[in-house]
Amino acid sequence: MATAQKNTCVSEEAGTAAAPNATASSVPPAAADVPSPENLLQEYNELRERFQRTTNALASAAHDLKTPLAILNGYVDLLHSEKLGALTDRQREVLGDMQASGKRLERFIQDFLSFSALETGGLRMQFAPGNINDCLSEVCRLWSGRFQERGLALYFLANEKLPIFPLDAPKVERVVSNLLENACKFTPKGGTVWLHAEPHMWDRRAAALPSAAERRRQNLSHPNSVKVSVSDTGPGIPPEFHVEVFDDFFRLPTSEDQEGMGLGLSIARRLVHGMAGKIWVENDPGGGSKFSFLVPYKPLTAAAKGKGR
Ligand SMILES: Nc1ncnc2c1ncn2[C@@H]1O[C@H](COP(=O)(O)OP(=O)(O)OP(=O)(O)O)[C@@H](O)[C@H]1O
Ligand SMILES: [Mg+2]
Repeated sequence: MATAQKNTCVSEEAGTAAAPNATASSVPPAAADVPSPENLLQEYNELRERFQRTTNALASAAHDLKTPLAILNGYVDLLHSEKLGALTDRQREVLGDMQASGKRLERFIQDFLSFSALETGGLRMQFAPGNINDCLSEVCRLWSGRFQERGLALYFLANEKLPIFPLDAPKVERVVSNLLENACKFTPKGGTVWLHAEPHMWDRRAAALPSAAERRRQNLSHPNSVKVSVSDTGPGIPPEFHVEVFDDFFRLPTSEDQEGMGLGLSIARRLVHGMAGKIWVENDPGGGSKFSFLVPYKPLTAAAKGKGR
C-alpha cells in the first residue's frame, strides 16, 4: 500500500575509613560522608517506591478523567455533526477547536496511562501468531489522513518475505504510531516519510556461531527478527541526543513550539523492550531521521532475557 502514509562505586577503603573506631584526624572529610553500599541501596529502594506510589496516584487521577472527558467529547462530536440542529459558521469553528483540544487531552491521558502502566510493570505482553505487514498497513491507514492534511507523503510497501511469527500486534502498532506521529509532526510540509520492514539477522540473538564466515552466511539466510524503520525528510536529531531522546519527558530544545510531553519515544522504548527487542535512531544519509526497532521472531522467556542482550 502506498498512500499520499540511560553506580556509585564505594571502595572497601572508603568503607573502612568511615568505621566508628577510626580517629577523626585520619578520616578525610569527603570519605566520612560516603554512604555505605547498604545505605545507598536502601535509599534507592525508598526512592523507587515513592516514585511508584506517585506514578500510581497520578495514573489513577488520569484514569478518573478519562470517562467524563469521553462523554464531553461525545457531546461535542454530536453538536458538530449538526444532528441536533444547524450551526452558524462561528459555532462550527468553535466546536471544531473544542473537538481538536478534547482529542489532544484524550491522547495525553492515554499516553500518561501507558507510561505509568509500563513504569510500574502493569502492562503485560500478549503474543499471538500474526502478520506484521497487516499491523503496519493498519497504522498507515489510520495515519494517512493526517499526513495528507499536513502535505506529507507516507509510503509503505508490505514485505512478503516477512513470516508469520508470535507478536503483540496492538503494541507493535502503538510503537509505529508513535514514530509516525513524530515524523508527521517534525517533518516540514512537502516532505516524505517511509515505513519499511524487512527480515533481519540480529547477531546477539543468534546461537553462538562458530566463525565470522558462518555468521555472515547465516546473516543472509537465517533472519531471526524483523527490522521496522520510519525515516523522514525532517530536521534530523543531533547525534549527541540519540540516546536521550528515548528518556522520559525529553524534548529537543528546538521542539518547544510543537505539542507534546516527550513521552512517545520512552513509551515506544519500553514497549520494544517488552518484546525483547531494541530501538534506536540514526540520521538518514539524505537528511532527516531514521528510527528503527527490532522484534525477534521468538519472544524470549524471562529466564533467557538476561543472556540475550
Ligand atoms: N522524527 C523526528 N524528527 C525530529 N525530531 C524528533 C523526531 N522524533 C522525535 N524527535 C525529537 O525527540 C523528542 C522526543 O520525542 P517524543 O515522541 O518522546 O516526544 P514528543 O513528540 O515531543 O511528545 P509526545 O510524544 O509525548 O506527544 C521530540 O520532542 C523531538 O525533539
Ligand atoms: Mg512524540
